[in-house]
Amino acid sequence: MTIVLPPTATGLTKAAALLREGGLVAFPTETVYGLGGDARSDAAVAAIFAAKGRPRFNPLIVHVSDLDAAERLARFDARARAVAQAFWPGPLTLVLPLRAEAGLSPLVTAGLGSVAIRVPAHAVAQGLLQAFAGPLAAPSANPSGRVSPTQAAHVLDGLAGRIAGVVDGGACMVGVESTILGLLPDSPPRLLRPGGLPLEVLEAVLGTGVATGLDEKAITAPGQLASHYAPVAAVRLGATTAAAHEVLVGFGPVTGTLTLSATGDLAEAAANLFDMLRRADVLAGAGGRIAFAPVPETGLGRAINDRLRRAAAPRA
Ligand code: TXA
Ligand code: MG
Repeated sequence: MTIVLPPTATGLTKAAALLREGGLVAFPTETVYGLGGDARSDAAVAAIFAAKGRPRFNPLIVHVSDLDAAERLARFDARARAVAQAFWPGPLTLVLPLRAEAGLSPLVTAGLGSVAIRVPAHAVAQGLLQAFAGPLAAPSANPSGRVSPTQAAHVLDGLAGRIAGVVDGGACMVGVESTILGLLPDSPPRLLRPGGLPLEVLEAVLGTGVATGLDEKAITAPGQLASHYAPVAAVRLGATTAAAHEVLVGFGPVTGTLTLSATGDLAEAAANLFDMLRRADVLAGAGGRIAFAPVPETGLGRAINDRLRRAAAPRA
């Protein structure tokens, strides 16, 4: 049984109690719903991997309430402090050197010497972090390899019966996962995943370019594996009309059965992306296909296209 909790003080107190018992509770963030568990508990973190069917070599993001809490887990240099001050709370995850005394379960970091940390802006996520008063490991609350959830109903679709609860805070405002920036010593800043914070905005504060290519030597985020975010139907990109047995998802001048944003607004498109991918999947039905209109590769378009390329990639 997975209980659905309201985003009230009572609901958050109950959610925090479940987390303290080692239970898993999904909760809304401004990006997507996270599947939370106590980041200090081996049992809770192992349960997250089991509930998602996620390979254990793929480390999790640790969520904390503020920069002070983050500094107790990782070492921040001047660059890291500058971007944290500019963009936290918000859709940015930093990969930083892990402090030996952080007290996190080694499963969270998959045994790496670095840790991914984020301070979410969503009021319900902040409320839950206050109520729990500790770090929460939280990957996206979907079975591994499937489309990320932006509504409580999406979480239940994939994980009902496998987790203790979900706090229903409505639809996520940003709609794509956080931008992941690697800031490791003696290395230039590296984009490990495009996301809800546009690269251009990040570079303006860093005052330098951010490396975007995959560096095979650097730790690679397994979110970078080709097939991820897969719907059931096959996906075609760059479409301007629907072929036979295709559900067209439009953008800007291309009108589809569903349209990410009729006005070509990238923020609106990001917020609609995963819900429309799920709905198009249902509409396509067995043997059907989904075709997506082109989206520009700027700002949030970078994250949208990254998720669409993964949805379209040959299945692993
Ligand atoms: O918006 C988000 O970031 C959402 C919400 C819930 O906060 N979370 C999320 O988590 O997307 P997840 O687990 O689905 O994605 C975490 C990504 C993975 O691709 C993982 O490989 C990468 O972060 N990651 C975690 N720790 C890392 C590390 N030490 N070095 C490099 N990549 C890391
Ligand atoms: Mg995910």
